[in-house]
This record gives sequence, structure tokens and C-alpha cells, in this order.
Amino acid sequence: MARARPVSGTASKDVHWYQRAVFYEVLVRGFFDSNDDGTGDIPGLISKLDYIQWLGVDCIWLLPFYESPLRDGGYDISDYWTVLPEYGQVADVAQLVDEAHRRGIRVIADLVINHTSDQHPWFRESRQDRTNPKADWYVWSDDDQRYRDARIIFVDTEKSNWEWDPQRGQYYWHRFFAHQPDLNFDNPEVADTMLDVVRYWLDIGLDGFRLDAVPYLFERDGTDGENLPETHDYLRRLRKEVDSLYPGKVLLAEANQWPEDVVHYFGDGDECHMCFHFPLMPRMFMAVRREQRYPITEILARTPPIPEGCSWGIFLRNHDELTLEMVTDEERDYMWSEYAKDPRMKRNIGIGRRLATLVDNDRRVAELLHSLLFSLPGSPVLYYGDEIGMGDNIYLGDRDGVRTPMQWAPDRNAGFSRADFAQLYLPPLMDPVYGFQAVNVEAQMRNPSSQLHWMRRMLEVRRQHPVFGTGGIEIVSTDNPSALAYIRLSDGGHSDGGRSDGGRSDGGRSEGGRFDGDEAPRWPDGDNLSTGKPLTPDGSGGPADIVLCVSNLSRFAQPAQLPLQRWEGMSPIELLGRTPFPPIGELPYFVTLPPYGFYWFGLVAGPPSPTGD
Ligand code: NOJ
Ligand code: CA
Repeated sequence: MARARPVSGTASKDVHWYQRAVFYEVLVRGFFDSNDDGTGDIPGLISKLDYIQWLGVDCIWLLPFYESPLRDGGYDISDYWTVLPEYGQVADVAQLVDEAHRRGIRVIADLVINHTSDQHPWFRESRQDRTNPKADWYVWSDDDQRYRDARIIFVDTEKSNWEWDPQRGQYYWHRFFAHQPDLNFDNPEVADTMLDVVRYWLDIGLDGFRLDAVPYLFERDGTDGENLPETHDYLRRLRKEVDSLYPGKVLLAEANQWPEDVVHYFGDGDECHMCFHFPLMPRMFMAVRREQRYPITEILARTPPIPEGCSWGIFLRNHDELTLEMVTDEERDYMWSEYAKDPRMKRNIGIGRRLATLVDNDRRVAELLHSLLFSLPGSPVLYYGDEIGMGDNIYLGDRDGVRTPMQWAPDRNAGFSRADFAQLYLPPLMDPVYGFQAVNVEAQMRNPSSQLHWMRRMLEVRRQHPVFGTGGIEIVSTDNPSALAYIRLSDGGHSDGGRSDGGRSDGGRSEGGRFDGDEAPRWPDGDNLSTGKPLTPDGSGGPADIVLCVSNLSRFAQPAQLPLQRWEGMSPIELLGRTPFPPIGELPYFVTLPPYGFYWFGLVAGPPSPTGD
């Protein structure tokens, strides 16, 4: 079997690389069409790796590329061992990984183990009768009454998690579309086979997986079928296998749940290396629309510590709807009224739009949101096209509106494909605001002040400060509710136990002014939210990496007084321009923020040098 080389450079010895990585989510189908058949493919993606490298991405996340009838974007797999022929072959995946590794880029892929397509040969066999060898590979029942506490996820299309199969004369269980029967993980053959799948693709060279729909692997009566102990047992088994045979690979859990539930998917550092932080995402959008920091500070305060070596995956948008499952009913109504003014923008329990359209194409807001994405604790995950501000097409079905072809150039078919327009898997955007003639990579490459160049510069600065990936966070209290300030601090940073209040008697952490006027939870004293360890000096004497981030969530200019007295004598250096700012004194530090403005300051000891270094 073809096997890719390991990633180039010393980084290959770094098993915790994902903590500092920036991920880039790619829809193979929509990225670049190398053979003019209207569908993006793996050779097409290979030909665009230089672009991804130029952008400064560390790891590509591939949406499913396996054999599939594509009734759910490839999350309906009909053969785990082959690549969908339109996308290429297994050898192309090996070559992709190889070429990416040569450029210092890793590649992870979606692994969909909870369910298959109903076209999978296993299911075709299973449904034939009750005695065939695969009869017990799926979850069958004589009635549709079991597991009634399990919620329905695709509310737009599904009425029940059970589907009647006339062939077998029984119901089968499905957490997603009815054409996606759930595999039966109680069957040891299924559990073992999925580990075979994992080994197969890791042998080819993939650097890990995004584990699709992990909370639902097992079902039990009297439960909601999520987060069952059996599911965690299986994930521990999977992790053990991966760590022992393939050290340095990553498992990233997709569990759309509250932080206190999701943290269990890290286990004691023995389940997934990473988990997506779903509830943070809508709160970033809420914060800018309300012009208040509390949605963000509250969810951070509600986020428990995670084990050493683990990381959150944080994101603004992805290939699905902007999910609103992890907000209150009141907040959901607010989000719908603000961000889905046309009912066609709604999808399931969420909003089917891209970042640029959500922020009404206001580049200041898009940049502010990205600055939060790149500076809050967790590894940022970008969605293809958002780096150039691509829009969406709400008239397309399901979630296709946010999956249109990548806009490379103002040429025919956005430079994505030379096929006839009618042959394209989806039409590219052609409207005057977001269409490919207005928004494309080629034009933004030529324009040094484009969003694309800004994004690249941000990633460059982030890379220079590993504290963004591995450091703790302390919120800096300020009286202006539109200002959000925090310090990112590595363990080598000097600390008085986490105080960032300048010694005020209330600890400076009252985050008054929740939406309903309640006082929000107090920030846990001295907690490093990334690891749960107190921020104490490590005694190494090495220079600490300390970054102060200050954002203005308002559309108007704002002042902010920051109680930074415990950093007295240090000098802030603005990281994008390396401009020295006046040293921190004994009074609160004063900054003036332009509308939707933000600053990242490195804090260095002593007065600023003339060069800012
Ligand atoms: C989550 C994926 O992100 C989504 O696109 C898919 O439809 C479901 N899982 C079902 O696999
Ligand atoms: Ca093609």
C-alpha cells in the first residue's frame, strides 16, 4: 500500500503539534477540479497546496472523501476502503499527504463511524433477513418505541430516529438522515472493523481524524443515547490503539454539547486530544451584535479545565449550519432575528450562512471575529473561502449554500473548473457583492491590503507566539462592557496567582451585565483555562511569552481602562506593526479602540527599545 512520508522538519517529533496548529477545513468537492468534470478532486487539492502553505495553515481537515452516494456531503459512506472515484483514488490521498508533509502541513480527515449509507453493502446484507452474517451490524427493532429520549438532530427532514424497512420487516435506528443507519457498536465485529479502518488510513499517512458524531455510538434504554459510558470506553480503546501504533496523530471530537459535557471526551487525557468548542461559536456572533463581551466571558467561565496535552478546536463557521443548539431559547430567537432575517436562511436548529454574509460583508467585523478566533484558547479552524470573504447561496438545498466552489479567479466558473457551467457540482456565486468577479483569490493576492493578505499576516504573528496555542488566559476586567481584554500567558510568565485586577478588593472580576442583568459567574482565581493549572512561574528564568489582547465589540470608538498594575514597568508592543506603546504604570492602562478595533500587545520587560524589539 502507498504510504506517505512523515511531515518534514523537526516538528514531526512534536506529538503535541495540534495545540499550536491552525486548521483549514477543505471540501474536496468544492476546492479545485483538476480534470474538468465539474467536481473538485484530490489532484486538484494537491495543485493548490502551495496556496495553503502560503496562507500559513498547519493542518488541512478533509471532509469525507470516501465512496458515497453523496446524499449527506459524503457523511453517508458506502465503502470505507475506497475513495469516491470522482475525487480520485487511495494513491491520490497518499500523494496528497506526502505533498502536504513536504510543505510542513499535516492532513486529517473525517472519520464517520457512527453510521453508514443505506447503500453500504453491510446494510444491504443486514436488511435482507434476521439471520444473515451482517444481521446484527445495525440497530434493529420490531417497534419504534425504544430510546425515545434521544433527540432528533435533523429536524428539517426527520420525524423519528426509527425508519421502517419493509425488506427486513423491522425498524432501524438512525441519528441523522433516514438513509444513514447507525452501526451497532455492541457488535464486537463492528467495533473491531472500525479500528481496522482507523489503522488503514493512518497507515496511508493521515495525521489523524475528526471523529464525526462521536456521542452517539451506543444506545441504551432510558437514556438520551449520548455520552454513554460504553462510548467513552470505546474511545479509550481507540486512543490507546492510535497512541501505541501511531504517536503524534490527533483525534478531534465532534460533540455539539455544553463544555461541561464535552470535556468528558478528553477523558483523563486518554480519549480525544481535541474537542470542538461548539458553544463559544454563536457567542462570538452574539457579542459583536450586542456590542457586549458577556456572551464570550460567560462561556469561557463555564468552560472547565482540560487535561494536559489537550486542546479545544475553535471555529467561526464550517460546512454545516451555524448551529444554535448550545444557546438558550431566548438567545436562539435573538440570533435568528439578527442573523436570519429571511426564513430561508434557517437550517435545522441553526443558520445556513457564511461568515461574510452574517456580518453584512463588514470587513472590520470579519477581522475582529478572526482576531478572537486566533487569540482565544484553542486551535483555530478556518473554513475554506472565509479567508477571502466568500458569500453563500441560501436558495440551494440543505447545507449546499455554504459549500459552493472556491473562488480562485474572475475567470469562467470562478477558476474552479473548466467544465461546462451546467456540469458543475454546484453553481459558483455570481452576485455583484460576493460573486467570483468581486471576491476571488487572484485579485486578493494582487492587493496587499486585501483580507487574504491580512489573514496571512495574522497567522504569521500567531505563529511567532506559541502562547496563543498553549498558554493560559486571564480576563482583564474593564468598566466598558464593549471592551474585551485578556492576557495570554505561558507558564514561564510571572504571576501573582492569576490576579489581573491591579489589586482591587473585589478581585476585579465582576463581569456584571448578563443579558438579563444578572451578574455573570466570577472568573476563577488564578486558573489557567487551558490546563487547569495555576499560572505560577516555572522558575526557568526564560523570557515569558505574554500577550495582551484588547477588542472593541462596538461599532463606535470606545475607551478602555485596564487594571494592569501588576505588570507595572512592562511595555506593550503592538504585534502587527511592532509599535512600542507607553509602559504600564501604576494607574490603569488606558487604550482607545476604533470601531470594531482590536490590539494584540506583547508585554516585554522594561521600557520599550526604539526598534520595538
Ligand atoms: C456532522 C457533520 O458535520 C454533518 O455535516 C453531517 O451531516 C452529520 N455529522 C452526519 O454525519
Ligand atoms: Ca474533477
